[in-house]
Amino acid sequence: MSDKKTFYITTPIYYPSDNPHIGHAYTTVAADSMTRYKKMRGFDTYFLTGSDEHGQKIQRRAAEAGKQPKEFVDEIIANFKALWEKMEIDYDHFIRTTDDYHMKTCQELFQKIYDQGDIYKSEYSGWYCTSCETFFTELQVGEEHICPDCGKPVEMMKEESYFFKMSKYADRWLKFIEENPDFIRPESRRNEMINFVKQGLDDLCVSRTTFDWGIPVPFDNKHVIYVWFDALINYYSALKARGDGSLYDKFWPADVHLVGKDIIRFHTIIWPIMLMAADLPLPKCVLGHGWVLINSDKMSKSKGNVVDPFKLCDKYGVDAIRYFLMREMGYGLDCNYNEELLAVRINNDLANDYGNLLSRTTGMINKFQKGIIDAPGAGTEYDQELIDLARAMPDRYAALMDKMEWANALAELWTLVNKANKYIEDAAPWALNKAGEKEKLATVLYNMVEVIRQVTIMVSPIMPGLPTRVWQQLGISDREDLHTWDSLTWGGMPSGIAIDRGEPLFPRIDLDAIDAEEIPSAKSDVKAQVETESIAPIAPECMISDFEKLDLRVVKVMECEKVPKTDKLLKFKLQLGTEERTVLSGIAQFYSPEDLIGKQLILIANLKPAVIRGIESKGMLLSAEKDGKLQLVECPNMPIGSRIV
Ligand code: MSP
Repeated sequence: MSDKKTFYITTPIYYPSDNPHIGHAYTTVAADSMTRYKKMRGFDTYFLTGSDEHGQKIQRRAAEAGKQPKEFVDEIIANFKALWEKMEIDYDHFIRTTDDYHMKTCQELFQKIYDQGDIYKSEYSGWYCTSCETFFTELQVGEEHICPDCGKPVEMMKEESYFFKMSKYADRWLKFIEENPDFIRPESRRNEMINFVKQGLDDLCVSRTTFDWGIPVPFDNKHVIYVWFDALINYYSALKARGDGSLYDKFWPADVHLVGKDIIRFHTIIWPIMLMAADLPLPKCVLGHGWVLINSDKMSKSKGNVVDPFKLCDKYGVDAIRYFLMREMGYGLDCNYNEELLAVRINNDLANDYGNLLSRTTGMINKFQKGIIDAPGAGTEYDQELIDLARAMPDRYAALMDKMEWANALAELWTLVNKANKYIEDAAPWALNKAGEKEKLATVLYNMVEVIRQVTIMVSPIMPGLPTRVWQQLGISDREDLHTWDSLTWGGMPSGIAIDRGEPLFPRIDLDAIDAEEIPSAKSDVKAQVETESIAPIAPECMISDFEKLDLRVVKVMECEKVPKTDKLLKFKLQLGTEERTVLSGIAQFYSPEDLIGKQLILIANLKPAVIRGIESKGMLLSAEKDGKLQLVECPNMPIGSRIV
């Protein structure tokens, strides 16, 4: 038996009703990056993904396509697998809920929970969204009978069903959440779920009779098991029911279920209660991430804005797409995608910051030192600061990676890349060369190489294709000992090595050449829209000193609720340094309070306080407004308290 620490991570299992899109790619890249990172840190890892193949939605979609469900999903699953291969997703197992071992395990658990009296037969009468495969109450669907999650019409469902006694477990769940503060992350989602359960839990309908594409209830085959009850069990059956059970012994329970915010309720309420009922250990953490939005809008087939990740990878390279996704999505927040944003990110971070650092370094080593990395000696006054930052970076980066704050981890790592670029400007190796300062020159070039080596190791879980190309250029392809996390001690790079300068790793993208036809939601859609619309007249000229009177700061929403008996007002509790501010804003018709928790917004922090409805409001939140539409201005990736200048 190995005494290595273990790490079990899962993505949701995707519905193979449509081909994979960039949103699916986000979760899977995040899980893959995290797995690679943990592996690099010496963990024994297990990474599970797969497909959720039963239920009414799949059955209907297959019928529309004139196919049997299994035949229908087989084709789509082949596309998912092809994408994962293309994106260098190195999963350990791809589970299909139609796999025999899963179906058997699912029936066994259903039977077990039934035998102990937690599943009973009754009749369900209520609303159902087939697209989300979710039951809703009258109150939730409103007068228009629209799904509160996806906005599609819901259907009235009235049929005999088995029910799972969720209500019985509410108190135990609340106690568990209280004792395990890190189980639901981020915290804003945790609070949302606690509020939900505190309002009382209904028993859950866990079988259907009006269609047959599902796993039969073992003791009543007129019923098939509700697709979510079936699907959640995948995380368990993939380990427990395959092989000799040793996978289960080694990896259960999961360290993290990575899921999108739309399915957090299933994973943090239904799933743990199922496990409590089955007397199984609960996962350690469910991390709910935001959505990849397309030009600030939800992706949907009917809007025609679904982005095909195959095309993106072909055009920009897998490493760049993986980097973009992991850098752009702030912890627990949504991120915006359009092709121009992608290209700007690639140009700035990869072509300019990282790529230039490498090409300038190898270029100067070629030019000034005949292509050899010389040994460092007496250096310059600029060295120490760079070396101190590089020495501190592995711990700083690891702390954020361990918390799964990937965007922050990359932003932190790039402070070292940027420092190294500044170091080149300050130390000016070209001047040292001219002045014949050979030793100083060798030191500066060595330090640059060492920073590149260390950054490349740290970023390798996110861009797994990158290191091979960089090691080739630095002449250390065969020195595997220099590619590991453990080699991240300053000065590990040997001298006397011949470099092999290659092509730029990330060529700059010409923003004007981005073609909207090729991949939906490229920049020209935006451009066309902006250029043809008239805007309100610009206000009279002002002085910079007028602007400077305003103290604009980045704040974080800690709490948000509607002000009773008003239509428009939301009351915010905002974090600003050590201070917690109360601010009112008349934007209730544009936002649900729970969607704002955790967001970073911009506050006019020195506005004279005003008392509205008896509440003192200290400041004003910035938002953009046009033609009755409104959007708060966000600043997701800067520290709280940052000044807007
Ligand atoms: N089959 C269920 C999951 C069962 S897990 C036991 C399901 N499938 S799904 O294919 O509809 O969605 C899978 C995941 O993709 C969800 O976590 C969802 O949040 C995520 N995404 C779908 N669209 C997304 C974006 N636009 N952006 C980011 N993730 C999104 O739900």
